[in-house]
Amino acid sequence: MSQVAHWEDSDLDSGQLDEFAQDVHQGLESGRKSLPCKYIYDQQGSHLFAQITQLPEYYLTRCETRILEKYKEDLVRHLNGTSFHLIELGAGDGRKTRILLSHLANSHRQVCYIPIDISPSPLESLIDSLNRELGGIPSRALVMDYFEGLRYLSSLNATPKLVLFLGSSIGNMNVRAADRFLSRLRAALNPNDYLLIGFDLKKDIQRLLRAYNDDQGITAAFNKNLLHRINRELGGAFIADRFEFYSTYEASDGAVQSYLVSTCFQQVYIRKLRRQYTFKSWEAIHTESSYKYDLDQIGAMARINGYEIVENYTDERAFFVDSLWRAV
Ligand code: AVJ
Repeated sequence: MSQVAHWEDSDLDSGQLDEFAQDVHQGLESGRKSLPCKYIYDQQGSHLFAQITQLPEYYLTRCETRILEKYKEDLVRHLNGTSFHLIELGAGDGRKTRILLSHLANSHRQVCYIPIDISPSPLESLIDSLNRELGGIPSRALVMDYFEGLRYLSSLNATPKLVLFLGSSIGNMNVRAADRFLSRLRAALNPNDYLLIGFDLKKDIQRLLRAYNDDQGITAAFNKNLLHRINRELGGAFIADRFEFYSTYEASDGAVQSYLVSTCFQQVYIRKLRRQYTFKSWEAIHTESSYKYDLDQIGAMARINGYEIVENYTDERAFFVDSLWRAV
C-alpha cells in the first residue's frame, strides 16, 4: 500500500479530487478491476442519465412517475404533521419530485425541501425551476454524497421528516451495503419519520437486459463517461473505443451487472496518479450493479433495519414499487 504515499505529496488540489483519484487507483490496481458508479455523474454523466430516463427501453423512470402521479394524494394523507422537512437523497433533476412538491404546495403543508446530490449542475437548475414554478416552497440544495447526506440529516432538529430515495438508487448497492445504508439512515431519523424508497422489481429478464443495453448506445456512453472523466480530471489517457460496454443479469443475485471490457492488451497512463494501468485482452472493469427486488425481500429489508411498511405503491404491470416506510 505504498502507492498511497505516492500522491499524498503530489499536486492533487481538492479533497474531492483526492477521493476520486484514490478510488480510481484502488479500483484499477485490483485483480478484479472496478470503478465506483457514483463517479459517472459529473455534468456530462448527469446529462446522459437524463437521456437514459427518456429511452423507450428504460421503463423505470416512467413507471415511477406514473406511481407518484397516481398515489400522491394517498401518500400525502399518510403524513400527519403540518410542517416537515422533505429530504431527497440523489435528487438529480428532481423531475419526479416536482409532482409531490406541487401537490404539497396545494395541500397547505409547510414543507422545507432539501435536495441532496453529488452533481451540482442538475441541482442548480432544479432549484431555479422550483423557484419559478413553486415560489412558496423554501428549499436548500446540498452537494454531497449519500453518506454525507445522512450525517447532515442527523444534525437536523426534531421536525418530522419525509426522506425520498427514489429511482431505484438503492439498486446500486449490494444487499449488505443497502442494509448498512438503511440502518444508518434509520439512526438519523426519529420514530414516525417516513422514507419513500423506490425499488425496481424482478421481472422478465429480456426486458431487464434491454433496459441496460439500449439500441442507441446511450447506456454504453453513460458507463464510458467514467473513462472520459478520468481523462478530464485525472489526466488519464483512456481511448474509450478500446473498451466494449457489456451488461448481464445475474439471476441468483437479482442484479444487472455492467462492465467495460478491454478489447485488447493496453496500458493506460493516468498523470495525476503518476502510474500506468495494464489491461489484458478481454479484462473487465466492473462499473455498476443494479439490484432488482421482490416485495418479500423489501418487507424483510424494512423490518431488519427498523422500519415498518406503510404502503407499497406499484404500477399496473408491477415493474416498479415506491415503498412507503415508517421508522419504528
Ligand atoms: C440511477 C442507479 C437507478 O441502475 O437503473 C441507468 C442508473 N444505469 N442505466 C439504474 C443506470 C444504467 C440507474 N440508477
